[in-house]
Amino acid sequence: MDYQQAYKKLERYGQLHVLKYYGELTKEEKQALLAQIEETDFGNLKYCRDNVTNKKGKITPLAAMQLEQIEKNREQYTAIGLETIRQGKVAAVLLAGGMGTRLGSDEPKGMYDIGITKEVYIFQRLVENMMDVVRQADAWFHLFVMTSDKNHQMTVDFFEEMEYFGYKKEYVHFFIQDMVPASDYEGKVYMEEKGKIATSPNGNGGWFSTMNKKGLLGLIRKTGIEWLNVFAVDNVLQRIADPCFVGATIANGCVAGAKVVKKASPDEGVGALCLEDGRPSIVEYYELTDEMKEAKNEDGELAYNFGVILNYLFNEKVLEKIVDGKLPLHIVEKQIPYLDENGKYVEPDKPNGYKYETLVLDMIHQVDNCLPYEVERSREFAPIKNPTGVDSVESARELCRLNGIEL
Ligand code: UTP
Repeated sequence: MDYQQAYKKLERYGQLHVLKYYGELTKEEKQALLAQIEETDFGNLKYCRDNVTNKKGKITPLAAMQLEQIEKNREQYTAIGLETIRQGKVAAVLLAGGMGTRLGSDEPKGMYDIGITKEVYIFQRLVENMMDVVRQADAWFHLFVMTSDKNHQMTVDFFEEMEYFGYKKEYVHFFIQDMVPASDYEGKVYMEEKGKIATSPNGNGGWFSTMNKKGLLGLIRKTGIEWLNVFAVDNVLQRIADPCFVGATIANGCVAGAKVVKKASPDEGVGALCLEDGRPSIVEYYELTDEMKEAKNEDGELAYNFGVILNYLFNEKVLEKIVDGKLPLHIVEKQIPYLDENGKYVEPDKPNGYKYETLVLDMIHQVDNCLPYEVERSREFAPIKNPTGVDSVESARELCRLNGIEL
């Protein structure tokens, strides 16, 4: 793209300020900026908080497969899952492109050491959990790791340095998620350098389309992978490629499954798996009306009582049909470092604009059916979002201790 073309594109989207410092840039910087303008989609920025209507349809409950029922069928489900893993049909996808802002570390969240008497990194805990399944199935399964521009190199270097925590290197594949521009409240993109538009990772909803873009579908097809278990970096107790979960999803003829836990309270900040206009969907706790919060099912239990923990199983063929453009855009307020009108770099101490994200949870609404599969929260849910307090390093350490994991 040359200067004239860039000018026209920016003019169309009302973003001409991007070229304000063009004259001051070196030849290389000019080229880099023109390339960034060419590849940037400014279309989403026309939204602002007020006119995004991620309106929900009619919400009704979706019964979860609960612990008791799972226990009754555990042997059968596990056998199906293990066989599917041995046939190479299951792979895992670790979403590790987030910024981990709340934890407040400059390094990728997975590099955080939660150990007390020894080093125990978050990535290490996840790999240890995967190794349990590798031993049980006596077979390796592929792991895809999504990173972002901001943490890719550090993540790859760390896995190398730690020798993949004992996992088989040939089975680990990294890919970088896309970035999108971050803007002020009027939708004007910020500049983080005179020749660079401020960007942030595009959320965790783009993982499959990015895998596709990066050519990983070739590997999936070649190796015959049929199921992808996608999970977040921060839950250090979760079971990954859990044979019983895989088997239960297959045995029940579902194209997707979601691990869920009983909510600690109706107001707990986790999304509940339900039906929306008859299709599976996740409704956030703040979207539930008081009436829904109190609604009971025929067994007298709360009807919207199962929260998702960002551990989903998807049939790969079904994922291929999900079009990115169908996922709603979430607009999140954020502190965005930027150049002010005098060209001075500013790191704001409060939110000053929006980042634009799509979310993996919205993919659930794109599939025909999804099995809500209950797991015991004290055994499988120890998310690390904050350094202390709720969902923190402290609470996760305590849960690890309860599960006999040495730290
Ligand atoms: P969170 O919503 O907890 O975001 O991500 P975060 O970036 O890790 O943390 P905060 O909100 O800044 O404190 C849930 C999961 O989705 C991944 C994260 O790495 C985490 O595993 N994620 C999030 C991505 O892979 N890419 C993104 O753009 C955002």
